[in-house]
Amino acid sequence: MFNDSEHIVAIFAIGPYDIIGTDNKLPWHSDKDFYFFKKATMNHPCIFGTTTFYNLPHYPLCSRGNIVCSRKFPKFQPMPTDNGTKYIKTNSIENAIKISRIIYPYKTIFVCGGASIYKYVIDKKISDVLYVSEIYSDALATDVQHNPEKYTYFPTDFRQDYVQSDVLNVNDANWPPEHNDINVKISRWIRKKSR
Ligand SMILES: NC(=O)c1ccc[n+]([C@@H]2O[C@H](COP(=O)([O-])OP(=O)(O)OC[C@H]3O[C@@H](n4cnc5c(N)ncnc54)[C@H](OP(=O)(O)O)[C@@H]3O)[C@@H](O)[C@H]2O)c1
Repeated sequence: MFNDSEHIVAIFAIGPYDIIGTDNKLPWHSDKDFYFFKKATMNHPCIFGTTTFYNLPHYPLCSRGNIVCSRKFPKFQPMPTDNGTKYIKTNSIENAIKISRIIYPYKTIFVCGGASIYKYVIDKKISDVLYVSEIYSDALATDVQHNPEKYTYFPTDFRQDYVQSDVLNVNDANWPPEHNDINVKISRWIRKKSR
């Protein structure tokens, strides 16, 4: 696993033609990617936009700091839930980062999407590291070609601004097998030095 204490890491999975979502959900099911996301983010602060957060199968995510951004929210509002796990609402990504640093000092801060939040942290150079799960599926690629409007796309050309630094061996025996025809490559990317 990668180690990026104190960095602000944008973590995302990206499919054929840079798709990241459909109907506010992931367009695939990858056991390896779920395993990676859970292992990487566990006990760390995770920042979300409202659309992504409220469309999670279960929110808030357990054993993680869940911080949700909306321009309509107050600056800081802890939210109780039925199962007792709290999450925090805040009005900007900058405030979400400040809150994360206070509650989780020295930890990696994970930016967990969606598209508008990824664009912000990449365009504003807030995230210097990316964890990218590249999803390969011929069936999905064919569907994107036939129904391009069905999908949400990654909002920037991250390959231009970042360079791949490490790749995980997802075929190691410790990783769960995929139960479908999805292949995944999980890699760490760092921002290129500006000249
Ligand atoms: N493949 C992946 O790894 C992955 C991960 C996450 C999400 N996704 C996909 O991404 C898609 C959702 O992306 P999205 O762009 O539509 O929605 P989003 O980024 O999840 O949420 C958008 C909302 O977040 C709030 N927001 C955005 N920027 C903000 C800022 N600078 N300050 C404060 N609040 C801000 C706004 O809420 P208000 O309108 O209330 O102000 C905005 O409407 C879905 O398809 C989802 O499945 C994919």
